[in-house]
Amino acid sequence: MKAVIFDLDGVVVNTAKYHYLAWKKLAEELGFYFDIKHNERLKGVSRMESLRIVLETGGIQGISQKEKEELAARKNGYYLEMISRIDESEILPGIPEFLNRLKQEGIKIALGSASKSGRMILEKLNLAGQFDAIVDGNLVEKPKPDPEVFVTAARLLQIPCEQCTVVEDAAAGIEAAHAGGMKCIGIGDRAILGRADAVVESTEKLAKIDLQAL
Ligand code: BG6
Ligand code: MG
Repeated sequence: MKAVIFDLDGVVVNTAKYHYLAWKKLAEELGFYFDIKHNERLKGVSRMESLRIVLETGGIQGISQKEKEELAARKNGYYLEMISRIDESEILPGIPEFLNRLKQEGIKIALGSASKSGRMILEKLNLAGQFDAIVDGNLVEKPKPDPEVFVTAARLLQIPCEQCTVVEDAAAGIEAAHAGGMKCIGIGDRAILGRADAVVESTEKLAKIDLQAL
């Protein structure tokens, strides 16, 4: 194992909750209730695909492409406003220590995020310098579960996919890692992320994983 590729939202930083709250606000404006259970399907999924799922949840049909783009932009505006004040306190527990350990062991570190705000968030948290490659939603076209985001990160690191491990909190991300021929550690609920090669309930527990034994 020569590289670890991190998802961002819900793995490195606690921004998954702001994506959820922003979609929830949009849903309420559209007149329906959107809760945390509906949100599970949005994790790891691109902005436009998330909107499609949100509209499906609300039973809303017949929306033009232009209106869809406006709704997605509205949600993104809420999200950007919510994260405008995030700081290092929102980095998830154990992540700084885990990044240091990887560095000491000579393992390369990359970001593989669907979010167009990925690089900006790492910079805001003063974490960008720790990453040998940063791939976010601006660099890829195909959303997870397509492996493009992770394969692009491996290519930038110049490490074969089989020697990369992905850390993910979303079922779509685990599927993407495996489709790219990579191992995957799931963060969260084993019932949802059971296909991962290892699952830990929170980022604090990453330290316990023997990466070479996955
Ligand atoms: C993923 C999140 O990391 O990025 C999704 O898990 C989000 O919830 C997606 O929709 C796209 O993010 P953005 O910031 O480009 O809208
Ligand atoms: Mg995520």
